[in-house]
Amino acid sequence: MSVCLEIKNLTKRFPGVLANDRVNLELRDGEIHAILGENGAGKSTLVKMIYGLYQPDSGSISLHGQELHFSSPRQAIQAGIGMVHQHFMLIPALTVAENIVLGSEPGNIHYRRKENEEVIRQLSKQYHLEIDPSAKVGDLTVGLQQRVEILKVFYRKAKVLILDEPTALLTPQEVEQLIQVMERLREQGIPIVFISHKLDEVKRVSDRVTVMRAGKTVATVETAKTTPQELANLMVGREVVLQVSKPPQTAGKPVLEVQDLVVAQGHAEKVRGVSFEVRQGEIFGLAGIDGNGQFELVDAITGLLPAKSGKVVFRGNDITKANVHKRTTAGISYIPQDRHADGLVLDFELTENFVLRDFARAPFAQFGQMHRQAIEAHAERLSESFDVRPHRIHAIARNLSGGNQQKVILAREVSREPELLIAAQPTRGLDVGAIQFIHDKLLELRANGKAVLLVSLELDEIMSLSDRIGVIHDGRLMAVLPGGQATREQLGLLMTGVKLEKEG
Ligand SMILES: Nc1ncnc2c1ncn2[C@@H]1O[C@H](COP(=O)(O)OP(=O)(O)OP(=O)(O)O)[C@@H](O)[C@H]1O
Ligand SMILES: [Mg+2]
Repeated sequence: MSVCLEIKNLTKRFPGVLANDRVNLELRDGEIHAILGENGAGKSTLVKMIYGLYQPDSGSISLHGQELHFSSPRQAIQAGIGMVHQHFMLIPALTVAENIVLGSEPGNIHYRRKENEEVIRQLSKQYHLEIDPSAKVGDLTVGLQQRVEILKVFYRKAKVLILDEPTALLTPQEVEQLIQVMERLREQGIPIVFISHKLDEVKRVSDRVTVMRAGKTVATVETAKTTPQELANLMVGREVVLQVSKPPQTAGKPVLEVQDLVVAQGHAEKVRGVSFEVRQGEIFGLAGIDGNGQFELVDAITGLLPAKSGKVVFRGNDITKANVHKRTTAGISYIPQDRHADGLVLDFELTENFVLRDFARAPFAQFGQMHRQAIEAHAERLSESFDVRPHRIHAIARNLSGGNQQKVILAREVSREPELLIAAQPTRGLDVGAIQFIHDKLLELRANGKAVLLVSLELDEIMSLSDRIGVIHDGRLMAVLPGGQATREQLGLLMTGVKLEKEG
């Protein structure tokens, strides 16, 4: 197969960080080439240079033997390179066709609806990316919005597709669909660069894998000839044990009691009479397919959404009507699922982000005075123990890699030593080492008698960590099963709304 894109000795330095250090990559026509690497290894920096968002300090990028120098994505697009960003750039109020055409031809005032929709219909047929061109983007699922972004890339006549962590925001079902899309594109000869932390996805879909470590490309291997263990070793440079060891433990008194809770958003009831409790020294896992009310339930427990009826009781006190701040200071920590919207202030330093919930309290403040020293010492401690890279407490959150931004939130919420930690999708976007670390932290809270409510779309994560598993479907709790005994099949059935036969 001939080489399509060739990267040679590409180097990019940011103040204090060598983000890419003489990186080499060869993308062949019609291959899916995965890039793996720990958080902060330099993957996004590399693809941003290919797409013209960053300019390299040295080294070269060639497309079919011709060297390229981009000063903006516009030039990369003209050369035939397309990239789908992790945060979509679509306008919800416009239709699919409008987003694709207008987004690609800004200033186009002669928008012809019928003709454009027909063009998009043809295009979506050609690439097997089924979608209704007249649908409003705001009404589409995340998976379908991503499809619009991919169509936009092909409308602009891209010959190479770059996907930076495209599966991080998708549900397991949407991931399946994306994998099929990628496979069909490969059949049509389109080469794809695919960044992911999920070894199973990489294993399934890619032809070759390039591993990055600390800004360098350390190896390129054929996927069929490697193992997850070898890949993990290449990524972190040492053996990684991919398993959870959970010592047995008896749960104590209830910390959180949810009683017949109903939560509505607009006219729709998203949570319809849910009751359960989470006890001291227990990890309660909430399993479910996305969109079944689990995140509205969490928002009602943390105070972000009001309860329509029912009760939330925390350590014996009714907090149903308490505001977010009251709940936080009472001992509830929250790792939100939308980290950018709810978790970080991107333009603040890490020091400030680490104390976002507690900056007004001792030891960080007293009598209305901020204690800079205490705040900085706290930040040093957290970024050290959670391995936030680069280890610079005055860095601006926006400049951290995606995974390291996550670590900042996790460090802040876990280190508050909460009585109750609510963790929504806590390991999304993290590398294997960081996932292991977070799982250990959750188990540590459990060992210290704290309560953990884990909400995750990943059954593996729920099954390996939870003492008890609640399954939510269509706003109702279908069942609560003991963690050690629940099988994948049982949980899968419950998640789709099928009640289990009572045994015996
Ligand atoms: N605009 C920027 N300014 C300063 N430093 C940056 C900037 N962008 C990236 N970096 C730094 O470059 C390094 C590589 O970051 P990059 O985003 O490429 O990592 P990554 O491999 O994509 O990680 P992740 O898996 O967490 O997304 C990190 O140390 C990051 O802090
Ligand atoms: Mg990245």
